[in-house]
Amino acid sequence: MYFCHHFPYLEILYIVRSTSISLYHLGSVHFSIHHRCFPSQGRVERISRIEAAGFGPVPDPFVPRVQIVVTIMGSYADAADESPVAPNALLTPYQMGQFSLSHRIVMAPLTRSRAIGHVPQPAAALYYAQRTTPGGLIISEATNISQTATGSVDSPGIYTEEHIEAWKPIVKAVHDKGGIFFCQLWHVGRVSHTAFQPNGSAPVSSVSERLEGEVILPNYERAPFSTPQALKTEEIPLILEDYRKAARNAIAAGFDGVEIHSAHGYLLDQFLKDGFNTRTDRYGGSLENRCRFPLEVVRAVAEEVGAKRTGIRLSVFQFHDSMKSSDPIGLGTYLCEHLNAASILYAHFVEPRMRAGQASIQTEENLHPFRKAFKGTFLVAGGYSREDGIKAIESGYADLVVYGRLFLANPDLPKRFALNAPLNPYDRSTFYNPNQVKGYTDYPFLNGHKLSPSL
Ligand SMILES: Cc1cc2nc3c(=O)[nH]c(=O)nc-3n(C[C@H](O)[C@H](O)[C@H](O)COP(=O)(O)O)c2cc1C
Repeated sequence: MYFCHHFPYLEILYIVRSTSISLYHLGSVHFSIHHRCFPSQGRVERISRIEAAGFGPVPDPFVPRVQIVVTIMGSYADAADESPVAPNALLTPYQMGQFSLSHRIVMAPLTRSRAIGHVPQPAAALYYAQRTTPGGLIISEATNISQTATGSVDSPGIYTEEHIEAWKPIVKAVHDKGGIFFCQLWHVGRVSHTAFQPNGSAPVSSVSERLEGEVILPNYERAPFSTPQALKTEEIPLILEDYRKAARNAIAAGFDGVEIHSAHGYLLDQFLKDGFNTRTDRYGGSLENRCRFPLEVVRAVAEEVGAKRTGIRLSVFQFHDSMKSSDPIGLGTYLCEHLNAASILYAHFVEPRMRAGQASIQTEENLHPFRKAFKGTFLVAGGYSREDGIKAIESGYADLVVYGRLFLANPDLPKRFALNAPLNPYDRSTFYNPNQVKGYTDYPFLNGHKLSPSL
């Protein structure tokens, strides 16, 4: 009897006796035991539920004459939907470089504002562990690469020894459950206030144009965003160095890799978009110049931690009113070509339908051109349901689908998608909030357990 840790949905496998071996075909079920595929002919007995299937390396051809009879015991009798559901494309395995993913459902980077004083707290270990599945990919909340990079209250940092030490047990908690954990590296640029900056100086950006709206200060009061200072050409290498150091720190904390946050109107986006970046030096003007700094960051980070541990998040379509690109397809395609040259692991694109504040609009635009242009693993995010996600994988539109709000509110999202079970609604009022439990680690699991033993 095996307890299958690789696929949380296939809980117990009995191997009964041996007589013959042939190509794997087990009804419609491939099964995996301890990361290995047993491509054998056999019978599936007493399947109470089959939620997912996967296969690993080709089996040892010299294993002689093995007949395997498998009984897959359903252990989710308490699931809301009792009817068996067909395995779906989201639950198929995927090899992302050196990382063997057991399914395609990725947890999105989600700022939660629970890192008091920018130091990750112990509750984060439980929060992330709850959302970990063996072989599942998790992208951390956006994590400040320096004090200058900071612009939101209680967002974590990864630029001091204290930060590294605080992240270690959190990363360990994810690894202990077999998860793969990337750290999202964040520089907010102008989306900040002097109260967050070293010596109360102005935040930095590509140009000196203030963001409309208000920021929540460290003392939880509201204030208008501060007017940024445009980075001088000779200051850019200092920010590159901050990225390098933060990437190095993330690996020192145990993360498997890093995702460069180049989306959503933050610093790197402030360089990419021609509706905003009106610089006249080598970092502004032409497409090549606007992409120069973000691509320098990519190369610096890849050099530091390895291209195969480096991903990037992009939102090239209009995300904020103040941050427009006149040619998002040209911008994204140019970036993809250069990301290919840097051989990074993945590109994570936000759907054009997404707008700031998680609003969604109707649009004919899509991510097809970038899927075609980018050679590495392609992640898509923004407004995905279970059904959309299945279609995205089945049609080849994406390799992996990233879920934000659904994962936030459903710690066992892969299992719920496997069972096509109902989802917990999210509570927006607790998205960003220092409470270490409410709206953080207290969303219910399907079976009522906080931490399902098999996940
Ligand atoms: C509470 C919350 C925090 C977020 N924080 C981040 C973040 O730190 N970094 C980031 O790139 N996107 C962030 N986002 C955007 C999500 O990653 C995701 O792209 C967005 O929620 C749309 O996906 P969804 O429809 O699956 O929720 C955040 C979204 C929410 C709801």
